[in-house]
Amino acid sequence: MIKNNTKIEYTQVVWEITSLLQKAESLEDALRTSLGEVVKAVCAEAGTIWFYNVNSDKRIYPSFTIGGADLTGLSLELGEGIAGMVVKEGKSTVVKDCRNDERWAGRFDETTGFVTKSMVCVPLVNKYEVIGCIQIINKKDGSLFNDEDISLCENLAMLTAIAVDGRGLNLGFSESKKSIISLKNVTKTFGTGDTKLQVLKGVNLDIREGEFLVILGESGCGKSTMLNIIGGMDQLTTGTFLFDGKDYSKADEKTLTEYRRHSVGFIFQAYNLMPTLTAEENLDFIGELCDNSMDAAEALERVGLSQRKDNYPAQMSGGQQQRVSIARALVKKPRIILADEPTAALDYETSIEVLTVLEEVIKSGTTLLMVTHNEEIAKMANRVIRMKGGVVAEVIVNRHPASAKELVW
Ligand SMILES: Nc1ncnc2c1ncn2[C@@H]1O[C@H](COP(=O)(O)OP(=O)(O)OP(=O)(O)O)[C@@H](O)[C@H]1O
Ligand SMILES: [Mg+2]
Repeated sequence: MIKNNTKIEYTQVVWEITSLLQKAESLEDALRTSLGEVVKAVCAEAGTIWFYNVNSDKRIYPSFTIGGADLTGLSLELGEGIAGMVVKEGKSTVVKDCRNDERWAGRFDETTGFVTKSMVCVPLVNKYEVIGCIQIINKKDGSLFNDEDISLCENLAMLTAIAVDGRGLNLGFSESKKSIISLKNVTKTFGTGDTKLQVLKGVNLDIREGEFLVILGESGCGKSTMLNIIGGMDQLTTGTFLFDGKDYSKADEKTLTEYRRHSVGFIFQAYNLMPTLTAEENLDFIGELCDNSMDAAEALERVGLSQRKDNYPAQMSGGQQQRVSIARALVKKPRIILADEPTAALDYETSIEVLTVLEEVIKSGTTLLMVTHNEEIAKMANRVIRMKGGVVAEVIVNRHPASAKELVW
């Protein structure tokens, strides 16, 4: 009885992803959604669609992932690991205990902090050749993937191969960029005794040089807490936090102050400009604190506010004040800018103005990490992280980021 229900439910999933893959405007979005549906249907923790880069370096790349493991920048050799073997041999595989399987490529879990237990991995076969594979990981109840689960994955694989063949998919296999920030199993607990609250429960995340990373997640899930740790404004409870390979996990206040002063620019929802100083003076004030700073005039020009340099914050609109605060972040020539809901207090038009300025900042090569509740803004990002319950629940790679002017809400 239960089995039949599962069958009907799975047939429904196949039906849904079939029409999704046929009709969706973006095949990439459709593949990600379909993978998500299958992961959900079989009650798994994670899933990955791998593609074989047959025309160039002959490696296998994790092009779509669902679940908290950040696989960005990783790849497998043909025949390496369970996915690599499945692509090489073209046969579906179910593994009960991956860590004790001889094919297991342990470096993946070591890098991501994710714990892989069981897995089903099925090849993507395009006419006669294997073009990749689909991997579904860790059944939530700890049981082994059953025949119905495998059959659903094989259906997804078949539909994916047909869709890719029919519609084409330009994935652009990219090599990994250097990681500027690295969080490994970071936890944060506030308070003690009865008021003790664990907010971060093992965050694993790498932020790469030059990328625009957006963080989404429900109110209270720990976004600002994580941003504060990355910005050196708060300390983690356990885990590691590296900046440029240097360990700041247990750094003292003096070291963190130096780090904040020289390496990080901040933009907050409230602009936090000093009301008694003009725009230019607000920037000079920061510029004097750090060596090798950018001229206030240049920073104001970059945010399009040169003519406002002598205005006090009260003489400027919210959007203009936020642009001054972006200029203030730029003055430090920071390696990374952290923005916590920078447009939350602004209307649509003004938000777009501010985002357009940030777009230029990213183009100039500065890494930007932004927390927002606005899903539309996430379309501009290179990667989107969704946090849930104090961990990274999902990492989405966006190969074709939208420009600020295209956003609508
Ligand atoms: N200094 C602190 N002391 C005690 N609890 C704190 C502290 N800072 C944050 N918290 C608690 O940690 C949890 C996460 O807060 P955080 O500000 O990180 O959430 P958030 O994801 O940024 O939410 P929002 O989207 O509403 O800004 C909340 O329950 C909050 O009350
Ligand atoms: Mg917050």
